[in-house]
Amino acid sequence: MIGAKPVQEILMNGLQKLEYRGYDSAGIFVNSARGGRHMVKTVGKIATLASKLTPAADGTMGIGHTRWATNGAPTDANAHPQYSVDERFYLVHNGVITNAAALKAQYLADVPFQSQTDTEVVVQLIAKFVRDDHDTPAAAFYRTLNLLKGSYAFVLADAEDPDTLYAAKNKSPLLIGVGEGAYYVGSDAMAMIDQTKQFIALQDGDVVIMHQDGLTITDLAGDFVHRDEFTAQLDASEISKGTYPYYMLKEIDEQPAVMRRIVDAYLPADGSVSVDPALVQALDQADRLYIVAAGTSYHAGLVGARLFEEVAGLPAEAYLASEFGYHMPLLSQHPFFLLLSQSGETADSREVLVKVKKMGYPVLTMTNTAGSTLSREADYTMLLHAGPEIAVASTKAYTAQIGVQAVLAKALGMYRQQPAANDFALRHQLSIAAAGMQTLVDEKDQIKNLVGQYMPDQHDAFYIGRGADYPLSLEAALKLKEVSYVHTEGFAAGELKHGTIALISEDTPVLAFITDDATAAHTRSNLQETEARGAHTLSIVSEHLAEPTDNIVLPDVDPRLSALVGIIPAQLIAYYTALGKGLDVDKPRNLAKSVTVE
Ligand code: AGP
Repeated sequence: MIGAKPVQEILMNGLQKLEYRGYDSAGIFVNSARGGRHMVKTVGKIATLASKLTPAADGTMGIGHTRWATNGAPTDANAHPQYSVDERFYLVHNGVITNAAALKAQYLADVPFQSQTDTEVVVQLIAKFVRDDHDTPAAAFYRTLNLLKGSYAFVLADAEDPDTLYAAKNKSPLLIGVGEGAYYVGSDAMAMIDQTKQFIALQDGDVVIMHQDGLTITDLAGDFVHRDEFTAQLDASEISKGTYPYYMLKEIDEQPAVMRRIVDAYLPADGSVSVDPALVQALDQADRLYIVAAGTSYHAGLVGARLFEEVAGLPAEAYLASEFGYHMPLLSQHPFFLLLSQSGETADSREVLVKVKKMGYPVLTMTNTAGSTLSREADYTMLLHAGPEIAVASTKAYTAQIGVQAVLAKALGMYRQQPAANDFALRHQLSIAAAGMQTLVDEKDQIKNLVGQYMPDQHDAFYIGRGADYPLSLEAALKLKEVSYVHTEGFAAGELKHGTIALISEDTPVLAFITDDATAAHTRSNLQETEARGAHTLSIVSEHLAEPTDNIVLPDVDPRLSALVGIIPAQLIAYYTALGKGLDVDKPRNLAKSVTVE
């Protein structure tokens, strides 16, 4: 940021809002026109950095960073800002420079390095071009950028020029916040929302030079480019925990309301579906739908694929973005691509978008983040209306992605006059699901007590299911492992006996979803097979299939939407297990909310 005061306080406020996106280490550099400048950086979270700050000389510009480690372990030395050996240039960076080692060998063999990071190679290179070749800082910045391969969102400060900030973007998100006589630059509007709602979304290859009273945006060749301003639809109050101890619990509780918002946004009472007709017509031209995503969004895509096939009659399959991007299957004649991404910034998913767009195929992004990279670069966008999701463990985005996929499947099915679509009273069914979700979140103490008895300090656990309950098991397993570190597998119940049942030992928790009429009896017997080998079993069953001995009963909903209620107890089991282990539920170790590196 440049031109606003108090710099250090504004930087720290922004970092606190960004922390959920990565929290291995953090640092700031503040520069003042009166020559006072200082840098503080440390391994650990923002609170640790705050404890090391002294009341700073009120600077006129500053940069800050909270890191999710890629090159180099989380240490003080590897924290950003990275700075040049002459302590003139300071650089913060999101992304991975894939040719850093080659550049270091070619240009910087004589330079002493203080970190293991690729970022330090960049800042040392800039300083070298200024020091040895007498480039201006701007010329050195452009020259360095044109040597780089990989992804970056950079902000560079020059200790000898407190009135200038440099920024550049390639693949990693970066936005300019436009303030009153001040500019901000960050990877997420949320970090700057207390200062401004006016933003400029940068594009790949953009280079920005900012002064307090103006900025220039060019491409890598230095030719000016125009970028539109937009107003962020973010409300600072939406990103408050309120009275909740953790965002994860707040966001679990918000799911019924989110489902009702999706109904209001897409399913008017007259029975129509409010989806862009051009999108529906484009989708109707497709002979196959490729749903591409990562993590929880991928699991939502597995549920969505079934909806598109059963409701709209469109062949559909979900793929992991990190695999699909490099090992694309033989595509159909008329493919259509649906990218699911809560953040709209996942690098693996964005890699697929770039590739399939180059091949000339249509792309829809379903995202929770308006104005995100995946949203801006797709041909079509549908928003999740879930509100900001802060907890690293995705909950409300998962159920929202299922709801919005159901909306699109319904719209396409009606356009194609599919009987299944006309019979699928989606507004009513989502409202029933929302009510069922509400019942489950209201009765969360039942889950809390179960976890206390059932999930003592286990190292391994299994979720199992058949049919629709198998992808549900995958998401339930991800929740438990990513917040409580219990090594949990989601497994096809019928497959367990083909080898993996060897892992079942005394008291291994095995949790079974039973919501599918066609396979309920089989799943029950699979659960008993594990119990016969010592497992501590727990059954999560739809009401119409429940037996007196079942542990958790789910309100009945349309079987194609069973994941909307089934996932609630699994989210709560993960939450209470992590809480019981005294872990940081919202910021689990090693994770980041948005993985903007491949
Ligand atoms: C889920 O709880 C994780 N936070 C992670 O798997 C996440 O779903 C994945 O990184 C995809 O993120 P996206 O939806 O923002 O693309």
